Amino acid sequence: MASQISTRQTAASDQFDRPLRDLRISVTDRCNFRCPYCMPAEIYGERYEFLPRDELLTFEEIARLTGIFVDLGVTKARLTGGEPLIRADVTRLIRMLTPFNALADLTMTTNGYLLARFAQELKEAGLGRITVSLDSLDDEVFRSMNGRNFDTAPVLEGIAAAEKAGFSPIKINAVVQKGVNDHTIVDLARHFKGTGHIVRFIEFMDVGTLNHWNMSQVMPAAEIVRMICEEMPIEPVEPNYKGEVARRWRYVDGDGEIGIIASVSEPFCGACTRARLSTDGRLVTCLFAAGGTDLRGPMRGGADDDELKKLIAGVWSDRRDRYSMDRSTLGDGDGATRSRIEMYQIGG
Ligand code: GTP
Ligand code: 5AD
Ligand code: SF4
Ligand code: SF4
Repeated sequence: MASQISTRQTAASDQFDRPLRDLRISVTDRCNFRCPYCMPAEIYGERYEFLPRDELLTFEEIARLTGIFVDLGVTKARLTGGEPLIRADVTRLIRMLTPFNALADLTMTTNGYLLARFAQELKEAGLGRITVSLDSLDDEVFRSMNGRNFDTAPVLEGIAAAEKAGFSPIKINAVVQKGVNDHTIVDLARHFKGTGHIVRFIEFMDVGTLNHWNMSQVMPAAEIVRMICEEMPIEPVEPNYKGEVARRWRYVDGDGEIGIIASVSEPFCGACTRARLSTDGRLVTCLFAAGGTDLRGPMRGGADDDELKKLIAGVWSDRRDRYSMDRSTLGDGDGATRSRIEMYQIGG
């Protein structure tokens, strides 16, 4: 077990001097939504074969690897998917991760559809924070953006249940796609203003290979800020910590804050300390990577913790990823041809 490793040795920084601090763990590649920008329904239909059970990391394997990552300096872990609440008994995994004292921040990103059922259980298991994806409050827009014709009501009930369970603040993530939901962003901000929750607007990104991304569909952060500011004045706030992904803005009237994640117009690779563990146990060092390093094979082949630790540390110290920054200097011409891991396999 990782806890038995006596020498706590943090991983060397990567080739751009970025330490390993965050781990995003994808617990399933399945999802109950079919957001066209992530898992288009025409590709992920009834017959689509997701990973068979034996290819998924078990909770014991995830916990073991997490312990090793913690030993290498990780202090923040996020459970994602696909949709993490689809994985049976995911609260058991949370209970297995809470004993890692160095893991100061244990969070989850969910689409919220099943959250009303699980919020209390998640809180009791020790989950510290929760982020809910909600692209629009307009049912018609939302139905098309989740690809399953679901209304917003279950997600709003999920958010209310999370609030009741004691999660605070709750972050609400909205991907903004020009011509799809940009006309509803001010309403979304207004709805959560004064609730203590934080809406974060995310520029639509060219992740994966399936969403036909095009720069013309990106609503630049500056434009999002302008639209909101016109109705509800906001001003910038200092980041909570170095490398924070979202730029913070607060309402001038003191009624809370919003965030903007501008990974296209203002990339933040310079401070990227995030590693990703895919559902099938690959270590992926960038959201836009073509693949990753298999950890499951060596682990199931009998590698001990020290060997796994060396493997992970080696991958991290060789890391040179800075895709979003290169995109802004090199252009996005390779988007359609370059092979890339899909977002739902590594959870954003
Ligand atoms: P907090 O810890 O609550 O601040 O969350 P976070 O900043 O880690 O944000 P979250 O995990 O909710 O990520 C929000 C969105 O930002 C993701 O869904 C992605 O769309 C985007 N994002 C997060 N990390 C990265 C990253 O490393 N690179 C890029 N390009 N986008 C990212
Ligand atoms: N661009 C930006 N954000 C995305 N997400 C999924 N696909 C994209 C994309 N192409 C977001 C989801 C969710 C998080 C896991 O990632 O909406 O909030
Ligand atoms: Fe599911 Fe999230 Fe992908 Fe939508 S973006 S299909 S909710 S994993
Ligand atoms: Fe990190 Fe890659 Fe995102 Fe840049 S594009 S912030 S290197 S995950």
